[in-house]
Amino acid sequence: MIPYTHPSPSLTLVGAGVGDPELITLKGIKALQAADVVLYDALTHPDLLNYAQKAQKVYVGKRVGNYEYTQEEINELIVAYALEYGHVVRLKGGDPFVFGRGFEEMVHAEAFGIKVEIVPGVTSAIAAPALQRIPVTTRGLSESFWVLTGTTRTGELSNDLRLAAQSTATVVILMGTKKLPQIVEIYQNLGKGELPIALIQNASLVDEKVAIGTIDTIVEIADNKEIGAPAVIVIGEVVNAQILQEVKVNRHVQKRSV
Ligand SMILES: C[S@@+](CC[C@H](N)C(=O)[O-])C[C@H]1O[C@@H](n2cnc3c(N)ncnc32)[C@H](O)[C@@H]1O
Repeated sequence: MIPYTHPSPSLTLVGAGVGDPELITLKGIKALQAADVVLYDALTHPDLLNYAQKAQKVYVGKRVGNYEYTQEEINELIVAYALEYGHVVRLKGGDPFVFGRGFEEMVHAEAFGIKVEIVPGVTSAIAAPALQRIPVTTRGLSESFWVLTGTTRTGELSNDLRLAAQSTATVVILMGTKKLPQIVEIYQNLGKGELPIALIQNASLVDEKVAIGTIDTIVEIADNKEIGAPAVIVIGEVVNAQILQEVKVNRHVQKRSV
């Protein structure tokens, strides 16, 4: 039985950023420095734990096929550690509120009277493409973007993808690598086989891998490059934004030189 003695239990949900440890926020670092306990995930960079000098560090990562803790157990741990030791930092990959279950953890902790603070993070949904010079929106190519999960609660591809694929929006899919053939089929059924698509695995890290192609070619390209999880899938004309920009610049230079 845990003695619940701490006078001011608190939880800070900190977004660790996309992977590179320098992509955490200053506020996130300060929270780690002040933490009594850090509960961290598989997708958070181990170097970040060096900021938490005085904290107990507890790994609660879940990876497909290698379950460490259920979400319910993590919720309970957050409460137990906060009530016993004081300030818990829950360090989560990317942003805690983008497919991060941070909201559930916040609600659970607040139900026990624990004060909660949110420190947003650099989400892989935007940063993974950005680091490949793929803007999720850009003037003339994309006016909006959708961020979807490839793996819903029931393990299915989100039904929203069928709607998103009909639009001209940039579509960003997390947790979707294994469903690539199904994703491709949805676009092919809409006659969008030529649409550019990119897969970015381990974005911002030394072992980053990228596959770029069209809807019709990507499955083979991704297979050849052995792209696996964790990866972000980006679909839309923005994937070619850089090439289109280079063509424009070259045309401009040619015009000026005649
Ligand atoms: C449970 S979701 C968490 C998303 C996270 N909260 C965020 O905002 O980035 C995990 C998924 O995020 C994506 N992801 C996270 N970090 C990544 C990285 N460094 N490179 C590529 N994809 C990443 C992958 O799609 C992965 O399956």
